[in-house]
Amino acid sequence: MATARDDLPLPRVTLRPMTEADLPQVVALELESYAFPWSEGIFRDCVRVGYVCRVVEIGFDFVGYGIMSTGAGEAHILNVCIREPMRGRGIGRTLLRQLLDLATDAGMTDAFLEVRPSNVTAIRLYQSFGFVPVGVRRGYYQAVGGREDATVLRLSLGVLRPTPTRP
Ligand SMILES: CC(C)(COP(=O)(O)OP(=O)(O)OC[C@H]1O[C@@H](n2cnc3c(N)ncnc32)[C@H](O)[C@@H]1OP(=O)(O)O)[C@@H](O)C(=O)NCCC(=O)NCCS
Repeated sequence: MATARDDLPLPRVTLRPMTEADLPQVVALELESYAFPWSEGIFRDCVRVGYVCRVVEIGFDFVGYGIMSTGAGEAHILNVCIREPMRGRGIGRTLLRQLLDLATDAGMTDAFLEVRPSNVTAIRLYQSFGFVPVGVRRGYYQAVGGREDATVLRLSLGVLRPTPTRP
């Protein structure tokens, strides 16, 4: 995808485990990014129960986070989010790739996620990894003036494509 930011070099991105000390900045980004954000309590529970919770950094700068649960052979990507000024530079792709690699290393065979059909950016990202639609959860999400369906996407980790690269 061509963006005005393509001429900027991709910064070095690192992931580290999220701790409760990260929650204020995680929640602040969540509030900026979603009309119906997760509460701090949800993030706290994810950390406490031992979900794969990662903070994305460039140097010491916080740029995003990812949350994934694993079990019974399945990884569930629960939340991925990158700070708006840093979007469109391959960081979300790096985050998702590393979460999927962690899932594969943990012995998971499939990855699942839900996405709003209106979230075209996220859907394009997921499809580029080979995620395919496998179902719909009716009225799954809150939406302005009602509810919105969720599209359920699945990826067989055995056929995980190499990280797509830019031309
Ligand atoms: C979805 C999100 C994590 C993607 O992160 P990102 O760092 O901007 O993504 P990348 O730069 O790695 O781009 C990866 C792919 O996403 C898609 N994409 C990125 N920006 C896009 C845009 N503005 N329009 C359409 N597709 C876009 C493209 O397929 C892109 O691949 P390409 O550059 O090779 O064409 C980010 O937009 C975000 O945090 N959004 C808000 C939170 C959210 O919606 N999370 C997903 C919930 S299911």
